[in-house]
Amino acid sequence: MSYLLRIDASAFGDASVSRQVADSFTAAWSRDIIRRDLALDPVGHLDAAGITARTTPAGAHTPEQKAAALLQDELVEEFLGAEAYVFAVPLYNYSMPSVFKAWLDHIMIVGKTIGLAGPAPSAGRPAVVISARGGGYGPGAPQHGKDFLIPALQTILGDTNLMALDVRPITPELTYAPVMEPLRHLLPQHYASLKQAHAQARRQAAEVAAVIATRRPELPGA
Ligand SMILES: Cc1cc2nc3c(=O)[nH]c(=O)nc-3n(C[C@H](O)[C@H](O)[C@H](O)COP(=O)(O)O)c2cc1C
Repeated sequence: MSYLLRIDASAFGDASVSRQVADSFTAAWSRDIIRRDLALDPVGHLDAAGITARTTPAGAHTPEQKAAALLQDELVEEFLGAEAYVFAVPLYNYSMPSVFKAWLDHIMIVGKTIGLAGPAPSAGRPAVVISARGGGYGPGAPQHGKDFLIPALQTILGDTNLMALDVRPITPELTYAPVMEPLRHLLPQHYASLKQAHAQARRQAAEVAAVIATRRPELPGA
């Protein structure tokens, strides 16, 4: 277990603010990184074959269940093999991009990643969640309280009965300000938020490396 798993979910490629902030993290990261880009290479929705494959003995799998189990095994192995995570997950319709939700549906498996007798295998691993958003959701903003992405991921990824990850959100806001006239007056707040997000990402790279060094003192360069 010796890599950072970076998952991207923005449809906007290099223009994505979430990706650019995640790049600030990875630029300051000196260990191995495995990347999965769900926008370029989506995993598809979890279907009946994928769900029933989990409770059907492998020897009795239909061809569809076999294919679904192979994909889930690959994704779970990649997830569990990581020592830390960066999730670049923009806010879409007050929630997460469907490609990211689909990926989560494939890896949240009772008996493999969650719902085990003891703590989840991923318990305590740092997970930096970078989520750009067009609007503003801080205290005093009209949309305050309507960000249903970070709270959902804090539960799904962070709850001790689920993945039990150490979730660290970074939320560059008001990315619509440069392109939407009614939000133009919020440009200074957008630039401040962006600057803060990049700084947080660089700081998190150092903090996460320090956490890993504590958890895995045998790693070279820790
Ligand atoms: C399908 C879609 C839905 C969106 N929904 C929201 C939303 O609910 N609230 C919001 O503030 N911005 C919303 N936006 C704007 C994005 O959050 C914004 O463009 C953000 O910068 C996208 O992240 P990215 O730059 O990493 O791609 C939406 C954009 C798209 C494409």
